[in-house]
Order: sequence, then C-alpha cells, then structure tokens
Amino acid sequence: MTEELTNQVALVTGGGSGLGRAIAEKYAKNGAKVVILGRHENTLQETAKTNDNISYVVADLTKDEDITKVANYIKDNFGHLNILVNNAGWCPIKPLAEMTIADYDRAFNVDVRGVVALTIAVLPLMSDGHRNIVNISSIITRHPGSNFSMYAGAKAAIEAMSKSWALEFAKKGIRVNVISPGAIDTQIWYKTDTVSKDAEEQNRIGAVAGTPLGHIGKPEDIANMALYLASEKANFITGANYLVDGGMGV
Ligand SMILES: NC(=O)c1ccc[n+]([C@@H]2O[C@H](COP(=O)([O-])OP(=O)(O)OC[C@H]3O[C@@H](n4cnc5c(N)ncnc54)[C@H](OP(=O)(O)O)[C@@H]3O)[C@@H](O)[C@H]2O)c1
Repeated sequence: MTEELTNQVALVTGGGSGLGRAIAEKYAKNGAKVVILGRHENTLQETAKTNDNISYVVADLTKDEDITKVANYIKDNFGHLNILVNNAGWCPIKPLAEMTIADYDRAFNVDVRGVVALTIAVLPLMSDGHRNIVNISSIITRHPGSNFSMYAGAKAAIEAMSKSWALEFAKKGIRVNVISPGAIDTQIWYKTDTVSKDAEEQNRIGAVAGTPLGHIGKPEDIANMALYLASEKANFITGANYLVDGGMGV
C-alpha cells in the first residue's frame, strides 16, 4: 500500500463517527499520526481501536478550555501539526418557524465558532513542513433545501473564510481547501436532536431523489477526497471547494 501521509501529524474533529471516523482511519492507514476529538469518549475509543496511529482527546469545540487542551495535547505529544480537518458539525433540520435562537447559537457555535477557535489555536503548531487545512462544508450552500437554513448559513461562512485563509496562508505554505459532501450515509441524518420528524423524512427522501447517481454516498467517498487534498498530490491546490455529491450540485 502507498503511504501518502507518512510522518504527518493530523487532527480530525468529530473523528468518533461518520465522515470524521472514515477520514481518521484513511489517514492512519496512510501513515499519519492522527489525533481525533469529540465529546463522547466511547465513540472516540472505537475509532482509536482501529489503528495504533490514532489517539484522541475528549473535547467540546464550543468550550475554549477544551480547545486549549487539544492544542496542548498535540504540542506535548508531537510538537507540530501538518493537517487540520475541521469536520465536526451540527445540523438542525426544521422550518424557520420552528427554529429557535438556541438552534442558531448551537449551529453557529459548533459549525463556525468552533472551527475558527480551533484553527487559531493550532495555527502556531503548523509552522513548517507539508501543511494544509481541509474544511468540511456541505452541498447545502449551493443546492439549498428548505429546513436547513441555520446550517446553510453556518457552512456558507466556513466556505467564505476558507477562501480568505487560503489567500492569507498561501505565502506561509499552508493550503486550505473545502470538501462539500452531498448526502452521505452517517448518523447526522438520525441524531439531529432538534429535528422535526416531517422535515427529517422529507429531506432523506429528497436527498436520494436529488442525487443523479441514484443513491447517497458513503463516508469512504469523502475520506478519499480528504486523503487526496491532504497529500502531496494536491500540492498546487488551494482555495478550492470540491463537491463530492453524486451530481446533486449540478
Ligand atoms: N452526512 C451528510 O450527509 C453530510 C453532508 C454534508 C456535510 N456533512 C458534514 O460532515 C461533517 C461530519 O458529519 P457526519 O455526517 O459524519 O455526522 P456525525 O456522525 O453526526 O458527525 C458529527 C461529529 O461532530 C462531532 N461534534 C458535534 N458537536 C461537537 C462539539 N460541540 N464538539 C466536538 N465535536 C462535536 C460529533 O462527535 P460528538 O457527538 O462525540 O461530540 C460527531 O463525531 C459535518 O460537518 C456535517 O455537517 C455531512
């Protein structure tokens, strides 16, 4: 097997489940030392069990002290960071009339503030060598669906920031790219705590119908793109946003 990330240190948020787990496992199989984070130790442990190259920190991205803990863990154990994957996210699915300001706060705290705070905290560790950031957005910013407005707004912010960061960090040699998944088969469809049942069902049916390839994707589909973008094969790619969506964005 080709090891595309040998000697690289990677941090993957939300690595205990779904896309984050698939990305962490893919990176570890390709030789990276991978640190994952999330709020639930049991799921982080399950991912870490799959490969000795994966370790974890229990951390809530909405808590500044937890973000400091993650940055310190990487500094103390590895001394530097090569790859940051801002993957963790939360998505309230309901019409605006049912949305609350608490939903807005939670979506923007996890999907935007958490990404910004973590990126600022680990940036000093990304000082040399092969370095890049992969931010996970969503097809929802280009192919809007009803009932996703808080999530769409939060992910649009991340896409705009990613372009600025790509320009800002280009001279430092840090690439910044975005992956926009279409509908992928993970727990996010089932566990959004504030989902309205009608909206959930409607959106799941709509996702398959709206995907020209006729089925929803697998976490592995996103992990393959995340590996490519993090690897040296993507050395001339920054500021890009890749749809991995079975054609939905068309
Ligand atoms: N699946 C799709 O169809 C799809 C489509 C487009 C975009 N996406 C994006 O892909 C990313 C991964 O989602 P997924 O589909 O893999 O769903 P998922 O399995 O629900 O993953 C979300 C991850 O985020 C972590 N997380 C949530 N809140 C957190 C917090 N406050 N602090 C730290 N970690 C937190 C969760 O871990 P804990 O619960 O342990 O904290 C979990 O591991 C998200 O950004 C999502 O918006 C998914």
